[in-house]
Amino acid sequence: MQPPSRTLMDDTVAATPRDAHLGRWRATLDAASRRSAQAMPLRACGRITRAAGLVLEATGLTLPIGASCLIELPGMSATAHAEAEVVGFNGDRLYLMPTSDLSGLAPNARVYPVESAPIIGATLNAKRLPVGMAMLGRVVDAQGVPLDGLGPLNNEATASLSSPVINPLDREPIHTVLDVGVRAINALLTVGRGQRMGLFAGSGVGKSMLLGMMARFTSAQVIVVGLIGERGREVKEFIEEILGEEGRARAVVVAAPADVSPLLRLQGAAYATSLAEHFRELGLDVLLIMDSLTRYAMAQREIGLAIGEAPATKGYPPSVFAKLPALVERTGNGPVGGGSITAFYTVLTEGDDQQDPIADSARAILDGHIVLSRTLAEAGHYPAIDIEASISRVMSALVSDDEFDRIRMFKQMLSRYQRNRDLINVGAYQSGRDPMLDRTIALYPRMEGFLQQRVRERCGHDTAVAQLDALLGT
Ligand SMILES: Nc1ncnc2c1ncn2[C@@H]1O[C@H](COP(=O)(O)OP(=O)(O)OP(=O)(O)O)[C@@H](O)[C@H]1O
Ligand SMILES: [Mg+2]
Repeated sequence: MQPPSRTLMDDTVAATPRDAHLGRWRATLDAASRRSAQAMPLRACGRITRAAGLVLEATGLTLPIGASCLIELPGMSATAHAEAEVVGFNGDRLYLMPTSDLSGLAPNARVYPVESAPIIGATLNAKRLPVGMAMLGRVVDAQGVPLDGLGPLNNEATASLSSPVINPLDREPIHTVLDVGVRAINALLTVGRGQRMGLFAGSGVGKSMLLGMMARFTSAQVIVVGLIGERGREVKEFIEEILGEEGRARAVVVAAPADVSPLLRLQGAAYATSLAEHFRELGLDVLLIMDSLTRYAMAQREIGLAIGEAPATKGYPPSVFAKLPALVERTGNGPVGGGSITAFYTVLTEGDDQQDPIADSARAILDGHIVLSRTLAEAGHYPAIDIEASISRVMSALVSDDEFDRIRMFKQMLSRYQRNRDLINVGAYQSGRDPMLDRTIALYPRMEGFLQQRVRERCGHDTAVAQLDALLGT
């Protein structure tokens, strides 16, 4: 234990003139230290020296990457300010990326670190955002501000946008099935609790519809939807028409559409992940839907290029390929016995090109992918899942050997039919040559029917498996 601290004044009770002199000095120093403790801290402030393109340059401040700042906008009003985040530096110059509107910014505008900003009413706390059960049914933006006009959030907790890395050895393995309510996926591409899947498709082939079906029908307890970089109109459509009342009641939607700053688009994705992590910590099974991972990568590309990073693959700087796994690795299963985050990330494949660098990178870091085909969508086959091109990499751990064999049989039949489709259509195939193909031709209309599903129709996992068994006559 520490001895009780003595103040300097205690020593002033002294007898000799030398001690009295020392005592006076000590009293003076004591008073000075009390006054300096009461003084306002020195307010650090820098100046904006350059604003061109997406980034601002500031001098006079030393701040770490990720720090938040406020910039005075004297052109607007005395208290108007913009928010920005440090995204890089070069020597004593800081690169800032604004997260709000910059109208009114003038040369030499003052920049303050957010903790010491003198601007009244600036309650910015960019690093901790609202989370918790009270968020269910709500729609918020990337900063946690409600967009749904339903009043304040009443959230019981806040969470940081980043989280410590989970030790891979502590993670619970994927061993239980998550029912997503879509027959083709439940029966042929079984998804596990804590699995991370990609949904690969071009534009307009039914990604949002399929995600909406999963959100409405899944057996997960909570749904977190991140709408990142999509059109603003789509946000309303997704919430009102695709998610609907039933999906919305147990969902939180984070919307960071295409017109917000790229930093906010990145933050929206990180925030949706933080919300999911919080629910996982509460022991819940979470379904995280991120639409889209490609737009997240594009936001990071905008930032990387703006601060002078060199473009590497198809204009994407290397930081993009580091950001993607960092985001995806936060989801999945937590430590044994806890909750889980099963995640679906949509990946845009331009012109249905599967070789896009983001698609390639996503395929490598995810535990499987579902490919939507434009040909099927154009033929009115919904959900337009290309079973042959899709794969769930953990499926063998989820289904029995018998079931696995039946799934393989279905896929082989489908693939054999596709390869011989032209011959069959022109009547050049003679039955009897290939018994498996004969069987497929007889079953094909039922197989097609099995793969299709109406938007309002739910098909649970057990039903889907039973229907597959019945179809294959086992
Ligand atoms: N299961 C379905 N049943 C019937 N029609 C569907 C189905 N899924 C999609 N569609 C049709 O496809 C259209 C586009 O679907 P959706 O908006 O989900 O595509 P998307 O891939 O999300 O498009 P975008 O790239 O524009 O985001 C819908 O408007 C609808 O007409
Ligand atoms: Mg969509």
